[in-house]
Formats: sequence, C-alpha cells, structure tokens
Amino acid sequence: MSSLFTIIKEKIKSSERHSISFYDFMALALYHPEWGYYSKEKKKVGKQGDFYTNSSVGSIFGETLAAVIAEMAKEFSHLKRVTVVEMGGGTGELMKQILEEWKTTFPNFDKKISLVMIEKSSYHRSVQKEKLADYPVVWYEDWEEFVRIEGNVKGIVYSNELFDAFPVYMIERVKDDWKEVRISWDDAGECLTEFKQELKNQEVINFLEEQKLNLPNIQQYRVEVNLDAVQLINKLSLGLAEGYLITIDYGYAHEELYMPERQRGTLMCYKEHLALENPLEQPGEMDMTTHINFSTLIAEGEKLGLKNLGLFSQSQFLINAGILDKLADHQDPNPFSAVSRRNRAIRQLIFPGGMGDTFKVLVQMKGKVSNKLQKLQPRGWFK
Ligand SMILES: C[S@@+](CC[C@H](N)C(=O)[O-])C[C@H]1O[C@@H](n2cnc3c(N)ncnc32)[C@H](O)[C@@H]1O
Repeated sequence: MSSLFTIIKEKIKSSERHSISFYDFMALALYHPEWGYYSKEKKKVGKQGDFYTNSSVGSIFGETLAAVIAEMAKEFSHLKRVTVVEMGGGTGELMKQILEEWKTTFPNFDKKISLVMIEKSSYHRSVQKEKLADYPVVWYEDWEEFVRIEGNVKGIVYSNELFDAFPVYMIERVKDDWKEVRISWDDAGECLTEFKQELKNQEVINFLEEQKLNLPNIQQYRVEVNLDAVQLINKLSLGLAEGYLITIDYGYAHEELYMPERQRGTLMCYKEHLALENPLEQPGEMDMTTHINFSTLIAEGEKLGLKNLGLFSQSQFLINAGILDKLADHQDPNPFSAVSRRNRAIRQLIFPGGMGDTFKVLVQMKGKVSNKLQKLQPRGWFK
C-alpha cells in the first residue's frame, strides 16, 4: 500500500464521521506536500507525462497569447513597468513561449514588464526556475503572498488549466435531496470507498442557493462544487487594482455544464494519456480534474468589479488574435517538416469538436484600461 493510501486511511480513521469529504481526498491526492500528484518529482505534461495541454502543441499557442498580452500591456504605457503574472504555470513552457516570442515582437519587453510566476507546487517551481533561468522572473507560492509583498497589481494575470486542477466537493441527487459524496475506508476490501451522507457543509449549501444553478432533477445526478475557484476569483478581483485577467480552461457556462447527459459530473483522471474512471484507485499517481463553471467566475468577478470582456471558445479567441495569419502556404509533401507540423498545430488548437471548443478563454478587466482591444475583435468566420 502506498504511503498516500496509508495517510488517507489514517485521516479517515481518526475523523469524527469516519469519512472525509471528496474535497479533502482530492486535495491530498493532488497536493499532499510529499506524495500528492502535483508535488511529486515526475513529468506530468507532454508525451512522457499524463496529459497534453495547449503549450505542448508546439509554440504557436504561446506566440498568439503573447500578442494579446502585448496589446494589453500597451494600456499601461504611463507606468514605468507593468506586471505580467502567470498562475499555475506547471512546467513554465507557456511563459517561455511568450518570452521567446517577445524577443522579436516586443522591443525591450524586459525593461517594461515585471514577470511573476505564482506556483503552488515546489517541484513545478523548481522546473520553472530552470526553464526560465535566462529571464528576470520572480516566484511566489500563492496569490496572497504575492499581493502582501508587492501590493495590488496593475497588469495582466493569466492561467492555463489552473481552475480545473482544484479539489472539489461532490454532491449527488438522491430522491429529492442533494447528498454529499464522502470517502471512507473499507476494512474488508482494504480499499477506499465512497458513500453518500446528508449534505451538512454550509458553504456548499450556500453556494447552491446563491448560484441558482437550476440543476436537473435526475436520480444519481452528480455535481462537483469548486469552492476554491470561487475563492480564487474573489482574491484575484480584490488584488487586481487595474488590468486584465485571462482564464484558459475547459468548462462551460451554467446551462451547458449542468445538462442532463452530464449525469455523472465531469471528474476525470488521467495517467499516461489514458482516461481512468475510478478516482479512488491510485491517489497521487494520476491527474484528477473537473470542468469549470465559467458562469460562476463571471458572476463572482462582477460582484467585485471585474467586467466580463467575453467568454470565447479557444478557436474564437485564437482566430481573433490572429492565429490564422501564422498558417503558411507550402508545397512540402513531408508531413513531418517544420512547416507541416506548425500548420497542423494551428489546426489542432482551433479544431471544432477538439481543443478549439473544449477549451474556453474568459477575459475580464478592471479599471480604466480599454475594453475594445483589437486582438479580441471578431475576425474570420466569427465576424
Ligand atoms: C493542470 S496543471 C497546469 C499546468 C500548466 N498551466 C499547463 O497548462 O500545463 C495546474 C498547475 O497549477 C498549480 N496550482 C494549483 N493550485 C494553485 C494555486 N492556488 N496557485 C498557484 N498554482 C496552483 C499546480 O501545482 C499545477 O502546476
């Protein structure tokens, strides 16, 4: 039995209800300081890891995002320096792609921009530090620490697949009630097991009441409640004095997220590029992730002064930002040539039914900066 299994089992045995919330289980599985999936010294992203992300599809995603952030940064030309923050940057690949692009497209960017990476995993912080050693980046472990030390931010804050990696509470419809899915230990089977109990968590109850989710009345319908996402968007809204927030992730607005066919919710586990269904089998050994609720991020942001500039499909966002201008006309029959690969990467990032619409990009803003950025205006077939 792995060390993490033992840790979770002991936590369950010593708990008052002989069970822990799904949230506590997922937080240990992903972020236990020694054995959690994101804490362990193991490759997670890319071919030798467990999942692909936008920045694994060549450098084109980073190049295109670089152009959007550069336009946003121009809004701060009255300041000596504008801050650009990436949250949850994983391997640091996306930030590297942006900075490499700016070397040719954004003269003296290093004198105009303060670069910050906020990363919870000490392993990922060390990978990032190695990858970005040539650049003047400053690191923090969390947003609060950053704001406490640096003060409120004027600039651009972005993340790719951050919110989907937060631990969630899980609820399930049983008759006319919502029950909480909790995790306990099965002595006979020597394994973790789940069961449903009366929903007592007041924060989850309040969330369900406040958000008016209009959840389907279907037996065994499951909903993940991502309270950490609510907390973070609140903190970001408060800590951003002026500027833009770009959130790239998979998820939906309320109406689409809680469709009847998503009866078992959206939780997925990934190991070596295989989708695994049982989250209790290999805690710490696989990625666990849920789709995010963009309506909540928009509504919570608005309460604290973040204006919604648009929830775009990834394809819409990238096309507006000019990705199609990067397609190269060529006669090279070799599918593995640099130009063929680059064109293929563009298609992969914007393809309908794939990354192009699974991923969304939410752009929010605060303060006097422009709400009419050229790189967000409809282009191509979105016009
Ligand atoms: C799914 S990975 C995405 C990594 C990278 N952005 C990418 O797209 O490949 C999520 C990352 O967010 C980090 N993370 C999770 N919670 C965080 C938080 N509250 N603040 C900063 N980083 C966090 C994790 O350690 C992990 O590196």
